[in-house]
Amino acid sequence: MIVLDKQSALFTLHTRNTTYQMKAGAHRVLLHTYYGPRLENEDLSRLIRGADRGNCPNPSEAGMDRTFSLDILPQEYSTCGVGDFRLPSIELELPSGSRTADLRYTGFELRKGKYALENLPAFWSREEEADTLVLFLEDAAAKVAVELYYGVLEDCDLITRAVRVVNKGDETVRLCRCASLCLDFPQADLDMITFHGRHMMERCPDRQPLRHGVQSVGSTRGASSHQYNPFVVLCGRDTNEEYGTAYGIALLYSGNFEAAAEHSQFESSRLVMGVNPYHFGWDLAPGESFTSPEAAMVCSPNGFGPMSRQLHRAIREHLIRDPYQGARRPVLINNWEATLFNFNEEKLLSIAKAAAPLGIELFVMDDGWFGKRDDDNTGLGDWFVNTDKLHGGLEALVPKVQALGMKFGIWVEPEMVNEDSELYRAHPDWALTVPGRAPARGRNQLVLDFSRKEVRDYVYGQLHKVLASADISYVKWDMNRSLTDVWSAALPAERQGEVFHRFTLGVYDMLERMRQDFPKLFIEGCCGGGGRFDAGMLYYTPQIWCSDNTDAIDRLRIQYGTSFCYPPDAMGAHVSAVPNLGTGRTTPLDTRGVVAMSGTFGYELDLAETTQAEKEIMARQVAQYKRCWELVQKGDYYRLTDPFQNPLYNAWSHVSPDRRKALVSVVTGSTYATPPFMTLRLKGLDPALRYRVNDGDSYSGAMLMEAGYPLPLPQDDYLSFQLLLEAE
Ligand code: DGJ
Repeated sequence: MIVLDKQSALFTLHTRNTTYQMKAGAHRVLLHTYYGPRLENEDLSRLIRGADRGNCPNPSEAGMDRTFSLDILPQEYSTCGVGDFRLPSIELELPSGSRTADLRYTGFELRKGKYALENLPAFWSREEEADTLVLFLEDAAAKVAVELYYGVLEDCDLITRAVRVVNKGDETVRLCRCASLCLDFPQADLDMITFHGRHMMERCPDRQPLRHGVQSVGSTRGASSHQYNPFVVLCGRDTNEEYGTAYGIALLYSGNFEAAAEHSQFESSRLVMGVNPYHFGWDLAPGESFTSPEAAMVCSPNGFGPMSRQLHRAIREHLIRDPYQGARRPVLINNWEATLFNFNEEKLLSIAKAAAPLGIELFVMDDGWFGKRDDDNTGLGDWFVNTDKLHGGLEALVPKVQALGMKFGIWVEPEMVNEDSELYRAHPDWALTVPGRAPARGRNQLVLDFSRKEVRDYVYGQLHKVLASADISYVKWDMNRSLTDVWSAALPAERQGEVFHRFTLGVYDMLERMRQDFPKLFIEGCCGGGGRFDAGMLYYTPQIWCSDNTDAIDRLRIQYGTSFCYPPDAMGAHVSAVPNLGTGRTTPLDTRGVVAMSGTFGYELDLAETTQAEKEIMARQVAQYKRCWELVQKGDYYRLTDPFQNPLYNAWSHVSPDRRKALVSVVTGSTYATPPFMTLRLKGLDPALRYRVNDGDSYSGAMLMEAGYPLPLPQDDYLSFQLLLEAE
């Protein structure tokens, strides 16, 4: 709900449990007055104070009032070069060479339903589920208009934001920074949690108190990156899973981003998040506009648990699109860790034949099926079947897989090219290359210039032929290196700052085309594992391969960190062989199953080589997943322990929205003598209900939550068990 007080230009956005407020104050400066737990009928600008402070300039309209300073006031969208020295949200380079931006409020518009963004991912809603507020600002001297968009998804407690900048003048203006979100807080005693990582160990939470100055994370790699995720949490110093205020803020963007927080001189703080200004500059000719990616925020008064569940719900219900919203993800078998590049039709079919009787529903043929792709040095860009490996092509293979009762999926890496490929030999200028410089290789491959439409059109045409040539239900869209040598032959020197962002828009364009042309196709995102695991990608790819690390114990940490923003049904998770390819660790098959079925479940090993006893366990795992999938995909997710802190065991649960059913999963650490007696306190149950556990004894919800459930004493490394709770 949006409440307007036109008289005092006060704008209050209410979700079910939160309130966000802005006010166009003196001199039409748009102030941010509040974001937090819901408050009724308050004008929070009453809390804002001014004072004559040394070195804090006053806008000229303030005349002799030395207490009115942009450097002190909480800003809704901070400007630059005109008096606020904290983090700017926007930077313009004007025809005069000035790099200032000064924005004043000029009006508003209210719309039913949620705004959409052209060519960019965004949360969506039915008209009755959301409201939109647009606030209009203007820099009169620069003749630049700025529109601030707010989407209020009341039921989900989600507020989204985006910004559109329009050049209303008659000369070109360069946009050097255009954040999606600026969020001022009156206090600075906040912690910031960022999610850092690396290939095979993504999204590890890092909690640090804000300190004076700027703290930031971001990506300059052209993908949102393994190293830092475009999601941050701001929270009280004592906030934990169930207690304290927590703000979860996500950027729907899969390219270079920056999230920067500043603790100011007067102990206030500011978060600014958006496209990374590194190597960014966008020329706006007269009449042209630029739209920022969308940012989305939730605020929980009760800790990280509800914060994550709000985000999960919003992503499931308002970001994932039909036909995959709420639909059960197929249990899949992928051949990558089983074969790497070394396969042919016979080998693939041997795996498929072993998979079908276990209840596995989708066979995914990974890297190596195309061009001359016998290792990772050649072939990328040549999207036609390697008939040395697959004699009859997809036309022969796919029906054979389908005859086993399984669907067929395929791996692609459209943004890339190997120098040893037909594509590169024909179009060497299509790879990102700086004139006069040999481009850096990554995995021995180069990056195609997806900012160029003709490059995208060609690659898309090739992919379209492949997808239309057989009944393909699933695509794994991979991306295995960071962008370097970012320069486009299609743009003049002064517009090279557009290439990174245009590249990301190009990826979105390709994904959207694929979705439109093959509406039933299920696309899983991937970027050397989880290097592009962000809310922007989820709009196109409802599931993302969480990490190339399939070790069940490492995965506990990766999936834990990922769950702060993203729901379990977004996390591709597979059972692989032991010793694990990445870590060399051996874990029990049961444990690998428990961990993988807490995401979107699949297998990635040579089933043709597994024993009968292992197959029996796997068939039971598949049956268990099919029994519990609704809990995993639609249930409320509870982190019961922190795997970074608890060496004894790690536990989590999925609870049905009506709280009548729950799946609790526990994995123990490495064993040692005389372990303590451990009792696991559950969360999210109905205290008044009695739950039967694994069809055996029953316990009250109150007891399970207050006193807990006794965990068996582990007598080996990395054991696991699951409790299926059903209300009587
Ligand atoms: C990286 C992915 O994350 C893996 O799962 C696999 O698809 C390889 N690429 C193939 O090159």
